[in-house]
Amino acid sequence: MILYFSGTGNSLAIARKIAEAIGEQVLSLYDAVKTDLSNEQRIGLVFPTYNLDAPIAVTQLIPRIRFPKNAYTFVIITCGAQTNNAVWTVRRLLKQQEVTVNYCHKIRVPDSSAMAFGRNPNDQAWKFDKFAPRLQTIIADLKAQKKGLHFAGFDPLGWLMSRPALQRKLAQMTTPSVNPDKCIGCGICSKVCPQKNIVLSELDEPTAKANAIANIGPHCTWCLSCVHFCPQQAMEVNGKSVSKPYQYHHPDIKLKDMLKR
Ligand SMILES: Cc1cc2nc3c(=O)[nH]c(=O)nc-3n(C[C@H](O)[C@H](O)[C@H](O)COP(=O)(O)O)c2cc1C
Ligand code: SF4
Ligand code: SF4
Repeated sequence: MILYFSGTGNSLAIARKIAEAIGEQVLSLYDAVKTDLSNEQRIGLVFPTYNLDAPIAVTQLIPRIRFPKNAYTFVIITCGAQTNNAVWTVRRLLKQQEVTVNYCHKIRVPDSSAMAFGRNPNDQAWKFDKFAPRLQTIIADLKAQKKGLHFAGFDPLGWLMSRPALQRKLAQMTTPSVNPDKCIGCGICSKVCPQKNIVLSELDEPTAKANAIANIGPHCTWCLSCVHFCPQQAMEVNGKSVSKPYQYHHPDIKLKDMLKR
């Protein structure tokens, strides 16, 4: 079984490719909490790096999942550039359940936060071709149930950069907010939010285009799914609008895939 977390579909697409190649199923980490995994011989985790570490949602979900102790266990992390302490964090969490990670690796893909830093994620599609051979190597290794810990060590620089003050700054730079003038209350953001962190509030005075408006709650994991899938470009990041050409999702993953999570 391959468990995944994904905001813009990069990790879901990689999880699906690996699953297809090695003959496994994919399951969202949220559903894994409610699933009996005790008979699984092979468990994979595929998720992104957010702000130099594993997403908060992943670190909150792993302790709630009952992992089989003796399964071949692997972790594949997607990232724009570096995984920093993402593997280290997850290995530490799994160790608390006496689960050993046998294999881990990373795959570089377009950076879904790039627009927060003035770059366009869609300009990074070249990474798909460049890192395709890496994915094939990973698949061959997983088929052979090889052992190998790549990018798994503790990263002191990543740790320094993820100290609370800088983490708060990074979080602020990647925090979504709703532009009430653009929101039409369609509810798509609320449906794609994996954390169920967006609710629609009825407007006291409905306008010609909206009866309701999206409200973001306190349980954000900064996946930016709401930002990239909003059909009105009404979600802003760090107070700046994200125009349509800067909205990104993995080309193989559609809105309906994200709604199914
Ligand atoms: C809020 C946020 C922070 C990110 N931080 C990092 C980072 O620290 N290092 C990195 O290499 N990529 C970073 N990325 C890029 C993602 O790791 C990358 O695009 C990933 O494949 C997204 O996967 P997903 O589509 O499954 O969510 C970040 C993306 C987001 C949305
Ligand atoms: S997807 Fe966009 S337009 Fe639709 S409710 Fe959310 S913020 Fe508003
Ligand atoms: S509010 Fe947006 S960025 Fe935050 S978890 Fe939900 S979809 Fe992701």
